[in-house]
Amino acid sequence: MEGPLAALSIPPPPDSGQVLILITELDPAGNGWQEHSRELPANEQERTHSYRYAADRFRFAKCRLLLRGVTACWQGISTQEVAFRHGKNGKPFLVQSLGLQFNISHTRGCAVLALCHDHEIGIDIENTGRRTDIDGVAGKVFTRREREMLMQLHKNEKRRHFFRLWTAKESLMKATGRGFSLNPSSIEAFLPEKPHIPGSFTCQNLPSANVLQAREIPVPSGYQAMLCAPAAVLVKSPLIITV
Ligand SMILES: CC(C)(COP(=O)(O)OP(=O)(O)OC[C@H]1O[C@@H](n2cnc3c(N)ncnc32)[C@H](O)[C@@H]1OP(=O)(O)O)[C@@H](O)C(=O)NCCC(=O)NCCS
Repeated sequence: MEGPLAALSIPPPPDSGQVLILITELDPAGNGWQEHSRELPANEQERTHSYRYAADRFRFAKCRLLLRGVTACWQGISTQEVAFRHGKNGKPFLVQSLGLQFNISHTRGCAVLALCHDHEIGIDIENTGRRTDIDGVAGKVFTRREREMLMQLHKNEKRRHFFRLWTAKESLMKATGRGFSLNPSSIEAFLPEKPHIPGSFTCQNLPSANVLQAREIPVPSGYQAMLCAPAAVLVKSPLIITV
């Protein structure tokens, strides 16, 4: 492989009962977006250029190239041959997937790419250092039980739990492909304090939410990430690789 992917050592594809998660740093200044964009097909180069800020251009181009590089290698095709289709609410899927599913999330400074076989998954990462009106957002997107639980916590704990709940809900919205068309306040997340114990969901608009689990993903300090997947792909703990 040439270009920015040349130094990448491609991991083997995930086992059937496991999710593979790739964590990658993003340059907040967006330096180097041109080199990444150059390796993408014309429509994705166009999309890269459509972002106003270099940081967003870099983030899109780097994540797309990483996804293309890894899945092309597993399927024995070129990065340019990897093709996508989109679900009703914009969730991207691989066309020649051989059952491979993925989801991407990015925030200032870091991105995560989750891959598995045969089951739709969702992942969300947030930069926990960013300015956030915790009470204001919680009032709009959390359930009453979630808000009451947050209100009992002191400042730092409150912030930590806010981001745990928020990333869990968004990971569910992304696993189902519904995104924000699914009202986050209709989702209730039950997250055990111990991060290795899976969390669960109920959602009044989506009864099947109760088959999905939330798994906290260890990411660098200053970030919070959550994966949402059915138990069938969480038989083994997710395999996490920094690239
Ligand atoms: C999906 C969504 C929740 C992402 O939120 P976000 O915090 O801005 O972004 P994240 O970094 O976590 O995720 C973005 C990535 O998720 C993926 N994605 C896009 N739409 C998605 C969806 N509906 N479900 C799951 N994943 C989706 C994409 O890969 C996207 O990255 P890319 O554009 O660089 O390829 C939000 O954009 C959304 O709700 N989109 C749907 C919009 C919609 O409903 N449109 C129809 C109008 S009725």
